[in-house]
Amino acid sequence: MKVTVVGAGNVGATCAQVIAQKNIVQEVVLVDIKEGISEGKSLDLWQTAPVNYYDTRLVGSTNDYSKTAGSEVVVITSGVPRKPGMSRDDLISINAGIVKSVTENVVKYSPDTIIVVVSNPLDVMTYAAYASANLPKTRVMGMAGILDTARYRAFLAEALDVSPRDIQALLMGGHGDTMVPLPRYTTVSGIPVTELIDQERLDAIVKRTINGGGELVNLMGTSAWYAPGSAAAQMVEAIVMDQKRIFPCCIKLEGEYGLNNMFVGVPVKLGKNGVEQVIEVALNEAETELLHNSANSVKKIMDVLDGMNIL
Ligand code: NAI
Ligand code: 2OP
Repeated sequence: MKVTVVGAGNVGATCAQVIAQKNIVQEVVLVDIKEGISEGKSLDLWQTAPVNYYDTRLVGSTNDYSKTAGSEVVVITSGVPRKPGMSRDDLISINAGIVKSVTENVVKYSPDTIIVVVSNPLDVMTYAAYASANLPKTRVMGMAGILDTARYRAFLAEALDVSPRDIQALLMGGHGDTMVPLPRYTTVSGIPVTELIDQERLDAIVKRTINGGGELVNLMGTSAWYAPGSAAAQMVEAIVMDQKRIFPCCIKLEGEYGLNNMFVGVPVKLGKNGVEQVIEVALNEAETELLHNSANSVKKIMDVLDGMNIL
């Protein structure tokens, strides 16, 4: 079994490393447009195999997609960060162009693949990949919900002094400041979190989660990669191992949650066929309003992208 990761930068290389260490596929192909970078990182990662005990082969490729042929899953992390002087619209157009061309290349060599998009702005880039892939909506999805939920769970584990493994949580919506963490669906080993923490501390954790990406950019001068790369690898694992795991993933909605032709994060079941079920949990009025508000803000950027005639 083969998995491809496009973009051998911080997130892509981390994702390749985590997949390799899980020892769940025979080969991980790392592709980048920068000459030599994917070959170098693949070689370096392969040289960790004898130390970290795994058999996954790592193959680098500078823009040669024939090496990706027959990939079960392709993770797209390629893109450029926003630079000084660059508007949000410039970023959208550049990254949408990259996601479109990468998607067309991967589908050419792996026509039945499942695509996991990581590039930002995430929900709109998932739309760009879907529009360029000509694949069923169950085979194109975006990673953000696992990352955002992981941040929320990590902050809660710290505040409650418990293992992060025991915190189960749900978070929906777009990847950005309109995301919707759901304390009503957050438990610590089955105990509602609201019984263990006061409202003020919980509100502060929700706020910190929403600003979680920005907090790291402020600290490091660039965006995060360990948790994002691991989160994308967890989606790959759920698919290639047919685990039927329930994760929040960005997908195309067609009526679920009262949203149509929108791309936002909702809980889904992930297995060998990609998105095998969309799970519609009951939301109260306030939660529904937050989710719709988030979807509408993604839709506005989708409309901006549509106006650019790139897809
Ligand atoms: P990075 O700059 O370290 O890596 C991006 C890589 O993409 C570079 O190596 C670049 O050469 C490559 N690239 C650019 N154009 C390409 C093309 N046409 N074909 C192949 N490769 C190409 O960036 P980093 O930190 O790895 O982030 C990657 C993306 O993931 C960014 O858009 C970032 O905003 C996003 N991100 C998304 C998260 C999420 O939760 N969805 C979390 C963290 C980052
Ligand atoms: C993150 O949440 C910036 O999307 C990136 O870390």
